[in-house]
Amino acid sequence: MNILLTGGAGFIGSHTAVVLLESGHDVVVLDNFSNSKPSVLDRIEAIAGRSCPCENADLLDEAAVRDVFDRHGFDAVVHFAGLKAVGESVEKPLSYYANNLIGTIRLTEAMAEHGVKDLIFSSSATVYRADNPVPYHEDDALGATNPYGRTKVMIEQILRDVCAADPQWSVALLRYFNPIGAHPSGRIGEDPNGIPNNLLPYVSKVAAGELPVIHIFGDDYGTPDGTGVRDYIHVMDLAEGHLLALEYIRERKGAFPFNLGTGKGYSVKEVIAAFERACGRPLPVEIDARRAGDLPIVYANADLARAELGFSAKRDLTEMCADAWRWQQRAWSGQ
Ligand code: NAD
Ligand code: UFG
Repeated sequence: MNILLTGGAGFIGSHTAVVLLESGHDVVVLDNFSNSKPSVLDRIEAIAGRSCPCENADLLDEAAVRDVFDRHGFDAVVHFAGLKAVGESVEKPLSYYANNLIGTIRLTEAMAEHGVKDLIFSSSATVYRADNPVPYHEDDALGATNPYGRTKVMIEQILRDVCAADPQWSVALLRYFNPIGAHPSGRIGEDPNGIPNNLLPYVSKVAAGELPVIHIFGDDYGTPDGTGVRDYIHVMDLAEGHLLALEYIRERKGAFPFNLGTGKGYSVKEVIAAFERACGRPLPVEIDARRAGDLPIVYANADLARAELGFSAKRDLTEMCADAWRWQQRAWSGQ
């Protein structure tokens, strides 16, 4: 297949590009580099040993998107492009609604015009209403608590409506839990701008000496060690999930939500301990107040993806931290 990856220069997109290229598919990346760098394309090509053409375009630019579709015969699209910082979305809701919603609408319009109707969408565990019991199941009630999450809930609904209106569409709504880690080569990984919001990149920067201390947001939750529990999944497992989802939607029509998680939760303290083993030394921590909006425990019921896609995460927390640390050391030393 010839597959368009919107946002393919980003964290999850770059790893998925490698997996798709290595499995024999052709890949074209479309990115505006608002949260990534063009240099990642060379590294994707070096790992996969194949070329990965890139279109520097913004999904909000209707003419540019149409032009990309005019010049390439795509069979399917994986739609990663979007803004993703929860806190920023509260401060700049219109940027999030404009970029994520209008970007998706422009993309699906161009797809429909060009007869491309197989789509994988990057959704999130954040679409689940906070009062659902854990683990979250695909049939649970939806409802997000911040503008970022609401864009995901709305886009899922838009795509379901598109499928209802035209039975030729086939859409996988992949609800990622907490992707971490990096490619085992250490050549691509997560590269957030500024001070990271998420746990793993923060821990990584403390281990590298770029930040002084890890702040643990609360140790008084009703969890075994009092710290928050999440379903961390290796980004390479997640990337492989996209390949399975692409194969799945080729055979079916409609909209299909899937959790992509491991089905297992780790606490903040367990993650820090695993990272300490990876980098070989103790890391400074400080217990802070709970972060507003955080839930005590979030993890996936991973049964549907296992049964329908044949997906199961293979890499454990040790491997996630070892790969993240390898990437951090390379990125830090400018290699
Ligand atoms: P990322 O920021 O690394 O990648 C997103 C890419 O999209 C970036 O390269 C950015 O430059 C590009 N982009 C953004 N807006 C664009 C636009 N209008 N036109 C063209 N390109 C644009 O993020 P990621 O972690 O790789 O996440 C990918 C997707 O997965 C996002 O939709 C995100 O919401 C979703 N997701 C991520 C996580 C996570 O923890 N990383 C969890 C759940 C869901
Ligand atoms: N945490 C800390 N210190 C930090 C950062 C995080 O203790 O510096 C804790 C949090 O309180 C939480 C856990 O580490 O218990 C994980 O926090 P992250 O910020 O890494 O991840 P979240 O689960 O809060 O959010 C992530 C994505 C969201 C997405 C959500 C889906 O960032 O975009 O998963 O469940 F919506």
